[in-house]
Parts: sequence; structure tokens; C-alpha cells
Amino acid sequence: MSDVDAIVTSAIEEFGRIADADELERVKARFLGKSGSLTALLKALGKLAPDERRDAGARINAAKDRIEAALGERRDALAAAALDARLAEEALDVTLPGRGAGLGGIHPVIRTWQRIESIFHSIGFDIADGPEIETDWYNFTALNNPLNHPARSMQDTFYVEGSDQGGLPLLLRTHTSPMQVRYACQHRPPIKVIAPGRTYRVDSDATHSPMFHQVEGLWIDENVSFADLKGVYTDFLRKFFETDELQVRFRPSYFPFTEPSAEIDMMFASGPQKGRWLEISGAGQVHPSVVRNFGLDPERYIGFAFGSGLERLSMLRYGIDDLRLFFDGDLRFLQQFR
Ligand code: FA5
Ligand code: MG
Repeated sequence: MSDVDAIVTSAIEEFGRIADADELERVKARFLGKSGSLTALLKALGKLAPDERRDAGARINAAKDRIEAALGERRDALAAAALDARLAEEALDVTLPGRGAGLGGIHPVIRTWQRIESIFHSIGFDIADGPEIETDWYNFTALNNPLNHPARSMQDTFYVEGSDQGGLPLLLRTHTSPMQVRYACQHRPPIKVIAPGRTYRVDSDATHSPMFHQVEGLWIDENVSFADLKGVYTDFLRKFFETDELQVRFRPSYFPFTEPSAEIDMMFASGPQKGRWLEISGAGQVHPSVVRNFGLDPERYIGFAFGSGLERLSMLRYGIDDLRLFFDGDLRFLQQFR
């Protein structure tokens, strides 16, 4: 029965040489499998005399135990080596300097938007939001600016596919003024609302971009006058720029939807931008025809509206001379507002 010891020795030796777990299982079959060498010895037991058989059987079983133990050890060793290799491959060098989390920030125009909302909210204005794709009615006609009216050429727009019930093409709103009509048709006076949002025009230079932001303001009640407009707007500017050192001028102008109409200009009385008038808003007393389009009686209800450019207000607040900087996405510019 020296065969048995030879089989054990060669099994242990072969297991030790193997570095691959699948290969180990294949080699195991050569000793312990159905036609393995140890199995062959077991099958041969039948031919032995009964007392020899007992002795040989015990030795074969002991050999089987030793081979299985060696196999188990090798399996564990291979698994540990595989784990080590994986850990080494996935190792992190915790001493490397970090890349930084790249904290984001709020865009300067959105900061302006938020400041405007909080200032007007604090004096009792509601805040409304509406569609950027508008119908001809809300963007123009309801605002006393019918088809073929020459004032339409003041605001060249982008048309989109699709049309309204009257067959007129849908368009990207050229101003936030359609929100006057949308909001006023759904609320009863006193109507006191601002509506900030994106607007679009065929415009492009240092102070005009094809997409820009406006905030519409509307206050309608039985006795809201141009003097109220002056007071509310001047007060807003002082709060927005955090200074009383500014002058505000209401320069006569024309909009089909207001009468009288004005452009609101402002000038800083101190600081680096001192001494230059800048237009920031259109405004006026809402035209009686528009009040009628609100579904209200213009003999009873009156008030003011304004529409201001958020980029212009941001340019003044931060001393920026080219509005295109807001939309270039240059991090060196944007990071200054973090
Ligand atoms: C209007 O859009 C009127 N709806 C404003 C209004 C509302 C008048 C309510 C009366 C009553 P205007 O076209 O002037 O008006 O634009 C208003 C402001 O939007 C301008 O003063 C300017 O600050 C800004 N603005 C206009 N076009 C652009 C543009 N292409 N890029 C950036 N800002 C612009
Ligand atoms: Mg204007």
C-alpha cells in the first residue's frame, strides 16, 4: 500500500504548484474524482482478503482526508492571493492632494431675480410665472398692439412651429408683459404682482442678447397713480442697490399698452459708475383698452405696470459693461459671484 503515500505526496506537490483556482479543481479530480487514482484504489479493495481490506480501507480514507485538507488549504491560499491582488489594484493613495469639490454658485442674473422677488414680496406683491411660448394675443394684441401696428417692429421675435386658435403662429414672448393679461384675467383687484422670466428677441450686441430676462410689475386698483409708480420703483431701486445715492428719471416714451408711458433711467450719485444715465425699464399707466382686456372696467380700475431688464440691473449692480459675459459660461467670470 505504498501507492497510497505516493498518491498523497504527489497530490500535495501538484496542488502546491497550481496558481489558478479553476485549475486546482481540475487537478483535484485526478485524485478524488470518479476515475481518480485514490478512487481506483478504493474500487480495488473488493479483491483483497477481508482483514487486509479493513486495514487498507482505513489507510485510503486517511489519505483521502489528507488530500482534502491539502486541497482546502490551497483553495484558501489562492483566494487570499486573489483578494490581495484585487486590493492592490484598487488601492487608493490617500496621500495624494484632493481635486476639490468644485462648489457651484448662483448665476449673477438669478441672484438679481431672487433679490427682486424678495424686495417686492416684502411690500406685498405676489410672484407669478408663465409660458415662454406665447400666442400673438397675449404677447401683442391684448396689449393694444394689433397685427400691422407699427409698434410691433420694436420687438422682432422668434416664431415657433404651431399656431393658436386663430391660426396665428406661436412665438417666443418678447417681453414679460403678456403676464399682465394672464394674471389679471385670473385675479380680482387689488392686483399686485411681479412676473420675472426669460424673454426673447432678434437682438445681439453688448447691451442686447437674443435671450434675456425681464421682470414685469403690475398694480391695479381703484386709485393707483403714476405717483405710486414713481414711489414704488424708486424705493425698489434704493433697496436693490442698497444705496440712497442714486437718481431716478422718468423719461416720456411710448408703449401701446401704457398711457402715459415712460422709460425709467437711473444714475448713481457716487461710486465708480457715477454721473451716467442708464435705461433700465419701461413703465406707465396701464392703457384703458388693456384694462378692458383684463376683464375690468377702465372707468373704475387704474394702475401702473413696468418691465425691467434683469441683465441691465445686474450689470449696474456688479459694474459689468458687456452683457454677453453672463451667457459665455466662462468660469473665471462666474466664479467671482460665488
Ligand atoms: C418692454 O419690453 C415693455 N414690455 C416694458 C413695459 C412693461 C413698459 C410694462 C410699460 C409697461 P423694452 O423693449 O424697453 O420694453 O424693454 C424693457 C427692458 O428690457 C429694457 O429697458 C432693457 O433693460 C431690457 N431689454 C430689452 N431688450 C433687451 C435685450 N435684447 N437684451 C437685454 N435686455 C433687454
Ligand atoms: Mg426700452
